[in-house]
Amino acid sequence: MDILILNGPNLNLLGVREPGIYGNRDFEGFLDELRKRYSQHKLHYFQSNHEGDIIDRLQEYGFGMASGIVLNAGAYTHTSLAIADCISAISTPVVEVHISNVHSREAVRHHSMISGVCQGVIAGFGLDSYRLAIEALAVGAC
Ligand code: DQA
Repeated sequence: MDILILNGPNLNLLGVREPGIYGNRDFEGFLDELRKRYSQHKLHYFQSNHEGDIIDRLQEYGFGMASGIVLNAGAYTHTSLAIADCISAISTPVVEVHISNVHSREAVRHHSMISGVCQGVIAGFGLDSYRLAIEALAVGAC
């Protein structure tokens, strides 16, 4: 399978950013591990701090270029009707992931604009949330 892992704002700072919440690892090292573990799949990766770039990438991969998309939209999760509309528009299934358990955090993080248009949501398992999302896509749960 071709799977796109798409990270939103501030996720380029993993390893540096609030390590008590997001851990000590940078994403690139983790991605290397994922690629080795899932060598039968092609894992594409993109990160952007900009809402429009995320939408461009969803549109690019969302009509056949990938069989599944793993999306951590960061704070746009809680605000972006535009990303929600885009997920509704594309045909590729999207799994929403969060490193932290957003439901155990501030109330503003309890609501997701995108959960209702994603195939499923995985949150709170640290970086392993991404791996669990790949598993869900790979077993055809989506
Ligand atoms: C996050 C949770 C969001 O609330 C936050 O804005 C992030 C990261 C997570 O992976 O836990 O940037 O999506």
